[in-house]
Formats: sequence, structure tokens, C-alpha cells
Amino acid sequence: MPSIGEIMESMEYGPSTEDAGAVRDWLAARGSFGHFIAGRFTKPGETFATRDPSTGVELAQISQGTERDVAKAVRAARRAARGWGAMAGHDRARFLYAIARTIQKRERFLSVLETLDNGKPIRESRDIDVPLVVRHFYHHAGWAEIAASEFPGHAPLGVCGQIIPWNFPLLMLAWKVAPALAAGNTVVLKPAEFTPLTALAFAEICAHVGLPAGVVNIVTGDGETGAALVAAPVDKIAFTGSTEVGRGIARALAGTGRKLTLELGGKSPFVVMADADLDAAVEGVVDSIWFNQGQVCCAGSRILVAESVAERFETLLRRRMEKLRVGPPLDKSTDIGAIVDPVQKDRILSILAEATGAGAELVGGAARQGCFIEPGYLKNIAPANPGIRQEIFGPIATLSTFRTPDEAVDLANNTVYGLAASVWSESATVATDLAGRVKAGVVWVNCANVFDASAPFGGVRDSGYGREGGREGMLDYLAAPAVDILRDPPPAAISPAPQGQAGDGEGIDRTVKLYIGGAQKRPDGGASYLAQDELIPIGSRKDIRNAVEAAQAGLGKWQGLGGHGRAQVLYFLAENLALRRSEFAGYASGDEVEAAIRRCFFYAGFADKFDGASIAAKPGHLTHVQHEPHGVMGVVAPNAAPLAALMALLIPAIAMGNAVVAVPSQDQPMAALTLAQVLACSDVPAGVVNIVTGPREDLGRALAGHDGVNAIWQVGQGETRLAIERAAAETLIPVWSPEPRDWTGPAAQGRGFLRAAVRTKTIWLPFGALPAGTGSAAY
Ligand code: NAI
Repeated sequence: MPSIGEIMESMEYGPSTEDAGAVRDWLAARGSFGHFIAGRFTKPGETFATRDPSTGVELAQISQGTERDVAKAVRAARRAARGWGAMAGHDRARFLYAIARTIQKRERFLSVLETLDNGKPIRESRDIDVPLVVRHFYHHAGWAEIAASEFPGHAPLGVCGQIIPWNFPLLMLAWKVAPALAAGNTVVLKPAEFTPLTALAFAEICAHVGLPAGVVNIVTGDGETGAALVAAPVDKIAFTGSTEVGRGIARALAGTGRKLTLELGGKSPFVVMADADLDAAVEGVVDSIWFNQGQVCCAGSRILVAESVAERFETLLRRRMEKLRVGPPLDKSTDIGAIVDPVQKDRILSILAEATGAGAELVGGAARQGCFIEPGYLKNIAPANPGIRQEIFGPIATLSTFRTPDEAVDLANNTVYGLAASVWSESATVATDLAGRVKAGVVWVNCANVFDASAPFGGVRDSGYGREGGREGMLDYLAAPAVDILRDPPPAAISPAPQGQAGDGEGIDRTVKLYIGGAQKRPDGGASYLAQDELIPIGSRKDIRNAVEAAQAGLGKWQGLGGHGRAQVLYFLAENLALRRSEFAGYASGDEVEAAIRRCFFYAGFADKFDGASIAAKPGHLTHVQHEPHGVMGVVAPNAAPLAALMALLIPAIAMGNAVVAVPSQDQPMAALTLAQVLACSDVPAGVVNIVTGPREDLGRALAGHDGVNAIWQVGQGETRLAIERAAAETLIPVWSPEPRDWTGPAAQGRGFLRAAVRTKTIWLPFGALPAGTGSAAY
């Protein structure tokens, strides 16, 4: 045993291990676990082991859920859905409150169980995960109480299938279950195969508080069980996990009308400007990438540092990194615990081998015996190196430099992902400029990995769509007020007009033109079809590409106008529509023109009012939930009501600052092409609206397959909807498919359209000195 004098010299800590006795007793008493269906545990079926990754020792046997198990759970959830959905919000709130209280009382037990199953340090499960779980249920008890008045006309979706990963097992469960229940849905949840234990302990809590049978069902198993849940008749799938699996789920749900939210991978930038507080930024790295062994979807794993301070930053970073303690997860002084499973450790090591093979230098990051990897970073790493492009999902960052803020933004956005970002600068101007320009759903300024139940979380691009937390998260579990659905007549087949018909035989081209980039354009290839007694251009993939480019070019000016500027343009457009009514004669009814004018006025009114919010998430932080336009939107209009329907979709989209490539009614395209002329003389900048006529399904598919498109609205049904949503599953472009309705009536306008025209970016800004315990996530 060392003497006190020696300890003072070495500063070695003795072990301080959290007692796991109660958890081990609990596991021993249960032995093997069945599923939790209709309020009780089933008899275990075929089982597999879940292990403590820090020792490899088996903790329990878990049932591998079959299709039959999933079907049984979905039926139980369906039976419970009516009663739970009809229950007064206050009564649901009391259940959520009871769950929160019980978790709070069992905090120590759940933290130890989580740490045993997942390998994360007890300090994290005890100080971060479980308190956030409790917070989530309290927060959503509140939403249940006030849902009827806050979301008038909205209804629960029904049964929600929820699939979660292993990095935050109980926290991800809370993120999914709490809003679903608050909104009046019932759930079937599948935890990750590596970490099912806290979900099963949660099932016991549901039974303990007397939650009605079938409201929460837990089916354990691997990806096959997950796939069975995706294929089951549920009303929504909420998934958190890898981008590849997320893409497969989007593919499977295409055309089904079932809701989907995806929270996928990330490779988030961590930008350190020259004027940053470097010590604080280094602490931010600890919070952001080394926290939870780097197994965090929003980890700021790409460190980008200003060249002028790079050397100093790296010295500080390395010094701090070398002090981090890798060790037994239950030891209270462990900083870095075990990787969740040997499979994941191998995955990390193979990416590191690829990265160093491609020329990067690894500092630290040594693999230890068992599931342990020391913290590290890759330097001298080229932009195409797999280590900087792929999600490593381990305690290894990359370190690169930049010279100017513009270069920092370019590098930050040089990824397929867009989940989160952390930016560090002591200048408010610089920090907020970066926060605005980084493409991500969450931005932390001078902090990292701060979460709260009230702050929407979720990504853009390959990081998925949908938000968890706060008002946005609730809306993702609610159905918008119902509308009377009017069938949209499917378009007639297009038969290209013989080329000779394109002119009048005397060299005059009678073909109407596409409208791209503010100008009339002949379609690529020059083909046309006959509709409304006119030769209508048949747009091609190339025309779509040109239109998307034009839209991208038009965005800057349009967004630069701001809400007030855009409102003025929309009023002017309304004025011109009124003046040029007669031009629409024969192409759209008087009611349609009236409706078009109404849309302009309505959304001009909202252009400077449909705002985000500053939310009271945590003391010591300004938390701003910003409404951002998607960017370039593809709008595939219905076949009926050729002017009114197009305007009902187009105007809210552009009012919010998007640029649109619209595919108008296939059978009656002349109203849209006439509209193009009115747009051209109404100060709508070039590229903000582009109109490509032709086969709706093909053009919609081309839009959905184009990486430059950021969101799609489409009203096609059946095969058209399937084709467009399938194409969008590959690109992960979010698709909104509103039901066909009376496009001249009140159901054709409202906040639902505005909400679909924006996405949120949550920006966290610490202000003042932070009271202890309210800062960044870790410690
Ligand atoms: P994964 O995406 O395979 O697993 C996540 C969940 O989906 C688990 O519950 C799994 O059983 C389930 N699942 C797997 N295949 C499915 C299918 N075909 N249909 C329905 N559900 C299915 O992720 P995995 O293999 O655990 O980790 C692989 C990589 O994914 C990690 O290295 C990391 O890069 C990323 N990842 C990202 C997460 C995030 O929080 N965004 C979480 C976990 C992993």
C-alpha cells in the first residue's frame, strides 16, 4: 500500500467503486427476460446474452423477439390506443408524473444498471443520463396536461413503433416514449440488442405506476426484430441509429402514409476560432467527443482550429487528454469507460487502420485489453480520408486547421451529415455568424452537448429528419387537424406531340416554354405534349437539374430580403394577379384566382411572424429555436385546381424564404405557365420560382433524387407517391404529402403549411457565468 507521502507525489486515486449489489440481486432474481406486452412479461423465448462490456461477463438472457411477438405487442398497443388517446390530458399527465417520480426514486439503481449494460462511466449515467430521463418525463407530463389547448384540433397518431440504439439506452427510450404518451399514443419499443436492461427495468416501472396495459410494450431483439416492427401495422416509426438502417426504413415506409422520424448519424464539426478561450474549448472537446467514449451521434468529432492558434490548442488538448482516466465504468473517478461491445471496438479500430493507412497520424487512441480504447485524435488528415468522412463512433477526434472564417464554414459543411456543431469564439459577431452558416439541427456556441427536454434536437441531410424535444417533438407525435379529402383525378398518359407540331410550319415555335431562373426556357430535347390545346414542354431530368441550380442561385437574394421584404413582394404579386385576372380565363376559374390572391395576402401576413422561439431550457443559457427555410424545395402539385392548388403550396414555401422548383398539374399546366408571366413582373427574384411541366411522376422522382433539393412537398397518390417517396428514401430528403383537398377553401391554408416550410435549428448560447452544474453535459 503506498504511503500518504507517495500518494501526494503521484496523486493516484484509490478505487471508488459504486455498489452494484442491488442491481446484481435484481438480475439474479429475474434470470431470463421475456418481452413486456399488454402490461406483463411474457415467458422468455429463444434468448441471447447481454454482457457487461468492461468484463465480458454475462448479465442476463434476453428474448429474441419474433414477428409473432411484435404482432402481439402491436395488437396490445392498438387495443390500448383508444382508451389512452381519449383519456383527459390531466390523467395522462399524472401517469407521466408518476413515471418521472419513480425513476427519480430509483435513480441510483438505474444508473448502475445502465453502466453495467453499456459500459459508460457511472458519473455519466448518474449525473447526465438518468437526470435527463427524469426531466423528460416531467416535461412531457406538462405537455400532456396542456396538449388540448396548445395543439387544438390535433389528434394522437395511434400506435408508434420506436427503435433505439445502445449509446443512451434509457435516455433514448425517454426521448421516444415520453412525447408519444403525452400526445396520446401507445408504443411498441425495441431497445438495442447490446443494452436492453434499462428498458426492461422501465417496463417494471410502467407496471408499478399502474399504467394501463398495452400503453407501453417492449419487445427485445436485434435488427430482425426491428425490421418486423417496421413491417408491422403501426402508425409511425421513430428511429435512432445508423444512416444505413434509417435509409432502409424510409424505403420500407415509402408510399404507406405512415409517419417517420429519423435521428441518424453525424460527424459534427467543432470549430475553434483564433479568439476562442482555448482552455474552455479543450474542456468542450472532453464534453463533446471523449464523453461516453465518443459513442454520441452529435459528438463534435471533427475539430477545426484556426491555424494561428493550432499549435497552442493542440498542446493544451494533448495535456488534457493524457490526464483522462480510462478504467472500470463503475469507478466514480473513471472518465472513459468501455466501448459497448467487441463488435463496435473492432469497427472503430478498422476505421482507424483505414485512416492511418491513408496517411493520417493517430495521437493516443491505443486499444487496450477488453473493450477499452484510449482517447485520441487523428491529425495531418486529408479531407477525403475515411477517418474524417465516416462516423467513427469512438473516442477519436480529427484535428485540422483553417485560415479564414469562410474556410471554417466550408470545412464544417463538407460532410453528408448535419446533426450538430459546436463553435468557439469570444466574439459574439463571429460566433453567431458561424452558428447561422453551419448546416446542422443543433449548434452549441462556446459549449457542447447541452441537452434539455424543451429544446428540439435532430438533424438535416444524412442525419435524418424530425425533431425530439419541446413543441416540435410533440408535433411529430400528433396528426394535424383532419381535412375533407377530395380525390385528385390521376393525370392522362402523356403522348409526345410529333416534332412537326412544335412549330406552325413557317419557322415560328408555338411551344409554350418552361420557366427557369426567371426566364422562359425551351425544354431539353425540345419534346412537347398536347394539353389544353397548347403544346406543353416535356421537362426532363436535365431541366430539373437546371431548375435546381437556378433555385440555388436565387436563394441568397430572396432570404436576404427578410420576412418584411418578402411580404412586400407577395402583396405586389397579389396586386398583379388581380390586375391580370383575364389572362387566366380558360385556365383557372374565378374562384381559383381569388384563392390565389388570398394565399398571397395570408402568407405575406405571416412572412414576418411565423417565428421561432427563445425557450427557457436551462439557467445560464439563451436557447434560441430558429425557424430556417429548407432551401430548395421541390413542389409536385395535384392535377386538379391547377392555379389554386399550386399557389396553396408555392406561396407558404416562398414566404418562409425557400426557392421552389414546381411541377404543376400535368393535365392543366397552362395556369402555372401563365402564373410564370405574372411572377416575372412582380419583383419575385429570378430563380425563386421555377416551373417545369411534364410527367409528374418522373419529374417528382428526379427532384427527390437530386442532392441539391432540401425538401419535397407532393400531393400525388398511389404509384406517384410511392415513386417519389422511394427516391427520397435514398437521398433522405424529407417529403411532406398533404392530402388532396378543396384548394380554394379554408383547408388550403394555415400554420401546417408554414410549419412544413421550415425546419428548426436550436442554438445554445451560454450567458453570464454559469451556476455550477448547469454547464455542458459532462461533469
Ligand atoms: P444500427 O442502426 O444497426 O442499430 C440501431 C437500432 O436499430 C438497434 O436497435 C438495432 O437492433 C436496430 N436495427 C438494426 N437493423 C435494423 C433493421 N433492418 N430494421 C429495423 N431496426 C434495425 O446501429 P449499430 O449497428 O448498433 O451501430 C452501427 C453504427 O451506427 C455505429 O457505429 C454508429 O456509427 C451508428 N449509430 C448511430 C447512432 C445515433 O445515435 N445516431 C446510434 C447507434 C449507432
